[in-house]
Amino acid sequence: MRLLSTGSGEVVRGPVHHPLFARYYARLSVSAETRLGMARIRERLLAGLSGRVIEIGAGNGLNFAHYPGAVAEVVAIEPEPLLRRLAVQAGLRSQVPVDVVPGAAEALPVKSEAFDAAVLSLVLCSVQDVARTLGEVRRVLRPGGEVRFFEHGRGGGAAMVLTQQALDRTVWPALFGGCHVSREPVAALREAGFRLGPHRRVQLPENGPALPTSFCALGVAWRQDRSDAP
Ligand SMILES: C[S@@+](CC[C@H](N)C(=O)[O-])C[C@H]1O[C@@H](n2cnc3c(N)ncnc32)[C@H](O)[C@@H]1O
Repeated sequence: MRLLSTGSGEVVRGPVHHPLFARYYARLSVSAETRLGMARIRERLLAGLSGRVIEIGAGNGLNFAHYPGAVAEVVAIEPEPLLRRLAVQAGLRSQVPVDVVPGAAEALPVKSEAFDAAVLSLVLCSVQDVARTLGEVRRVLRPGGEVRFFEHGRGGGAAMVLTQQALDRTVWPALFGGCHVSREPVAALREAGFRLGPHRRVQLPENGPALPTSFCALGVAWRQDRSDAP
């Protein structure tokens, strides 16, 4: 939680303030670009996008370098102050225009139906409310707009799932900036009314022992309107 001072002197708490995690993530995520092949995954995640894009929980902005030139503008929402500062710097180096904006996924500070695409990358694990977040993503996408996602979640067999659930109930969220390892992002997208397109499982790291965060899904989904439903 972050203390914010308003003009009236009133002090309110910001929604996401994880200074230790932010420092840790800022370093780890950069080395993961090459060590875990994350740069390649980000490239695939964003390939072919165009128009106006909203990225939710942009972190330190590592996706920005991978947006194709056909993207007219990225609005990057990031609530954590340190990560947001790093995202602003990454935005200045980006080839496409990036506007980094404070805010939370559960109440996106943007107009309805304003975006052609939304990007969710390693963020559904960390938001406070997945259903509200996806409701907001749906609201801000134009009809037929797409979601590109790369998310980790539940997987790896019964013993691993039990471990993931135990971690989520105990130390994991406190240690890793609110992250949960047993959520089911693909099912959540479906339940939120998105039509799933091609998506595939990715294990990270590809080789070696699996970690609670190893079970990822990379893919696309579309905002489905009630009239499109089968
Ligand atoms: C694991 S990091 C991923 C960052 C980035 N998307 C990436 O691909 O490297 C999770 C991010 O979600 C952000 N986050 C946490 N809770 C959030 C919320 N309620 N709304 C929006 N972003 C949130 C964190 O501040 C952090 O930047």
